[in-house]
Formats: sequence, structure tokens, C-alpha cells
Amino acid sequence: METVVSGIRPTGELHLGNYFGALRNFVKMQNEQNCYFFIADYHSLTTHPTPLDLHGNVRRVIVNYLAAGLDPEKATLYVQSDIPETVELYLFLNMNAYMGELSRVTSFKDKARKQPNNINAGLLTYPTLMAADIILHHATKVPVGKDQEQHLEMTRTFANRFNRMYNVDYFPEPQAYNFGHELIKIPGLDGSGKMGKSEGEGNAIFLGDSPEVIRKKVMKAKTDLGPTEPNQTKSDAIENIFTLLKVVSKPETVEFFEEQYNICTIRYGDLKKQLAEDMIVFTEPFRTKIAELEADNDYLRKVINMGAEKARESARKTIRDVREIIGFKSF
Ligand code: TRP
Repeated sequence: METVVSGIRPTGELHLGNYFGALRNFVKMQNEQNCYFFIADYHSLTTHPTPLDLHGNVRRVIVNYLAAGLDPEKATLYVQSDIPETVELYLFLNMNAYMGELSRVTSFKDKARKQPNNINAGLLTYPTLMAADIILHHATKVPVGKDQEQHLEMTRTFANRFNRMYNVDYFPEPQAYNFGHELIKIPGLDGSGKMGKSEGEGNAIFLGDSPEVIRKKVMKAKTDLGPTEPNQTKSDAIENIFTLLKVVSKPETVEFFEEQYNICTIRYGDLKKQLAEDMIVFTEPFRTKIAELEADNDYLRKVINMGAEKARESARKTIRDVREIIGFKSF
């Protein structure tokens, strides 16, 4: 059994793209590996959330993950800031992380460009904090998206550097793990690329969206003028709607609309109505579970305390070892 660590940014609501991109695979992994999944609330401080937003966002993500099937009895599910050992390891790693390599990281350069008035040290050292998260539990497998691969490479660099510096073989090399062919890319509703929150209102369907909201968003989805020739190639917008239909609808339904499209009798209004209703059915269990969890703070507290307990056990051991390796001694 391998040790798996992954951090989830507390960005609030989760959408269908998140579900098929990450959540669903986390749920599978928890049955097979020793999994640590945590909410990266320290990381989120780089953008200076208000105290109210910080807590609300963390809570919402936990609720969504539990609703999607993460099981606190199987995986260790915790909040990063409950494990201050993370910060101690981060400090140690920062002593051997260099300005040059940190400032060359793509995500840092992107953020620096996007928020020129807030290029803080936390942003620069984001990769060392992430490395601390990962090696704190001696993880070997890190399920992340492609955009995180450079951070993983830095994690390996920092882990190896620590080993070399103290002439030990203490931290293993973690590898990025993306689900490859198992991944279904979920397009958004605005006719462009993938489903995402930053793509603007209405592009994403959230797991907790009410039926009315889903209907409204889907009916507004981008289409085109309709096919004029039999078997015409679909435009991106229509291709996207069919992709979503394939995800939530029965094969017969997809076939029916494919046929209608191919003989040019399709009515996009009907297509979207069907998509909305099937999405409502698909998201029903999430919606119910989210509402239940939102109202049960006692349960949430129990889950979070249990996760913190388990994560701390592994974190304490690592910090004890690392302190000894570095040479801290008690008098
Ligand atoms: N940087 C990751 C993201 O933006 C979140 C993250 C923080 C993470 N620490 C991690 C992911 C450790 C994997 C392992 O999505």
C-alpha cells in the first residue's frame, strides 16, 4: 500500500468538472491506498481572505468532499492548519530553497503577473509549503492535475536535497499521479473550454446547485444556428453539450439526439431541457447529502477532529526525526 497525499484548495463550491477531475478518483483511491486528503487553508492565505470567508470556504469544501463520497474512516481527511508541524517542516525546507529556483516557478510568475500589488513571500515559497505537506507523511503518490507537476518536481528536489545535506535516506521521492485515460474532461456551458469557476457565471454546474439554478444555467448554454446538412460536424458548443449529455444521460437519450442532429431535425431547446433534467437527477444525491451535512456541525467537528488526530500522529513522528537529523538536541 502506498501513501497518497493531496491538498485541496478551499475555493468553496465544487462543480461537475472537479467531481470528474479529482473527487471521484479520490473516492476510488481511499479504498486502495493509505490516503491523506487535506484542505490547504495555509496556502489560501496568499490571497488574504477575510476570517469569515476563510472558515466558510474550508467548511464548504469539506461538506462537498464528504457528499461526494470521501469516507473519514478510510482516508485521513484533515484541515492543513490543524497540523502546525507542516509549518515547522516548511521553515526547515525554506532554509535550503533558493530565491533563483523559487522565482522561476511558472505558477509564481503567473500569480506575480496577475497580482502585482501582492507578490508576497508566501507566494514565492508556495512550493516549499506544498513540499512540506507531501513529505510530512512520506507520501510517494500525489494525485494532482498537470498544472501541479512542476511543484512536484520541486518537492523531489527539496526532499533529495535534505537527504543529501544530512547524508540520510529519510524522505522518499513522491511522484505526481494523474488518472490519465480514466479522466473525463468536462466542458463548460459557455461553448469554450473546460468547466471552471473562473470562466464566469453560469459556466459551471455546482454539486449543490438547486434544480431551478441548473435549469437556468443549462437553458442559457451556448449553441449554434443548427445543422444544415446531414451528419454535419458539430461546433464546439454543441460538441460540449453532447459531452455533458453522455456523462449524465442514458445511452438511448444520447443516441436519440445524435440521430436528430444528424438528420437536421434537432431542437436545441429540447436537447437542453433533457440535459437539465438528467443533470438534476445525477446531482440529486450530492444535493441531499450537502444539505444534510451543512446542518450537522457536530458530525463535521467529529470528522475534522478525527482527521487531525490521525494526521498529527504521522506529522509528529516526522518532525521528531527531522529535528534529530538536523541536530537539535535538548539540554
Ligand atoms: N497546489 C495545489 C493546488 O493548487 C494544492 C496543494 C497544496 C497540494 N498542497 C498540496 C496538492 C500537496 C497536492 C499535495 O491544487
